[in-house]
Amino acid sequence: MDLTPTILDLARKLTSPALIVDLGEVRRRYEAVRRALPGVAVYYAVKANPHPAVAGTLRELGCGFEVSSVAELELALAAGAGGPGIISGNPVKTPDFVSRAHAAGVRGFALDSPAEVAKLAKGASGTEVYARVTVDNSGSEWPLSRKYGVGPVEAVELLANARDAGLTPAGVTFHVGSQCVRAESWLDALGVCREVFERASGRGLDLTALNLGGGLPVRHTRPIPDLDAVGSAVMAYLREQFRPDLRVSVEPGRALVGEAAILVTTVIGVAERASERWVYVDAGVFNALMEATGGIRYEIVAERPGARAPCVLAGPSCDSVDVISSDALLPDVRVGDRLYVLNAGAYTLSYASSFNGFGPPEVVLLP
Ligand SMILES: Cc1ncc(COP(=O)(O)O)c(C=O)c1O
Repeated sequence: MDLTPTILDLARKLTSPALIVDLGEVRRRYEAVRRALPGVAVYYAVKANPHPAVAGTLRELGCGFEVSSVAELELALAAGAGGPGIISGNPVKTPDFVSRAHAAGVRGFALDSPAEVAKLAKGASGTEVYARVTVDNSGSEWPLSRKYGVGPVEAVELLANARDAGLTPAGVTFHVGSQCVRAESWLDALGVCREVFERASGRGLDLTALNLGGGLPVRHTRPIPDLDAVGSAVMAYLREQFRPDLRVSVEPGRALVGEAAILVTTVIGVAERASERWVYVDAGVFNALMEATGGIRYEIVAERPGARAPCVLAGPSCDSVDVISSDALLPDVRVGDRLYVLNAGAYTLSYASSFNGFGPPEVVLLP
């Protein structure tokens, strides 16, 4: 979403901090993912931005939802999705969520442990399950690998156990890591999935489905691979290496909403400390930009013109973790100046807390 004169005009009138969300851009991003991955069922990972208007907009286009908690399930149902339009990619779920999702007709749960096989067999008997495999996350700016996943041998073991426990072993799921900037990561991951399919067939398991997870990146300050190029490489690999009637799904979060919002923030302080310039703004890592702590580097535009010089950009709270960037490039900004954080639609609202009394940005929707 560009900082056009119209957006600037609107932004100037808003109380800071604010998140301007362009629902038209959400629609365009959804269509772009559909075009890049033809025939692949898209389930929006609600965690990226759980605003009901975002969910409603995607639902109108026929998008499904990936949910991990009771609150996300309720959001998807309220948006009008039926159970078959919802899946859960979280490999470790609460028992309460499992039974409520099953009762709502959710089809398709990820798992990666014997404990989860037992939990799903108890709370969601007969349901389709996907083994979450570990794949290389080195191309990701927000890696997810250590917490979840198993190797191909264990994946087949879990799927066989799931069958014996009365579940339906459907296939495999993975996550290349969020904001994945390495296009080959998806092909490497598909290689791991292919091994699971082969081993499963040797065990008499007929796997029919593959979930490509999330990870599709958005524009920040570093180059990202072209969505269509990733899509055509993935589609070619699927055609060549998997059964023709494979059911394929994808669960993007960031890619559908990241580029659909601009964060409006205001300079609340400037200081010189140990010969470094510090700039403090009213939207920091606790109330909007949590992903800055993991290395996501946002593009930040100051309204004030002038040569840009390095500074430490920090949030409003008293905590020293609240640093957005240690080497931001900004002009000689003053208290009261507005700064605009571009492409800030993903994992900003959903991570935001009111720590220290600084609340999340107010959301302003553009149709
Ligand atoms: C299971 C699962 N699916 C999908 C996503 C969405 O990932 P992304 O926003 O990188 O597309 C996540 C993110 O954490 C996830 O954990």
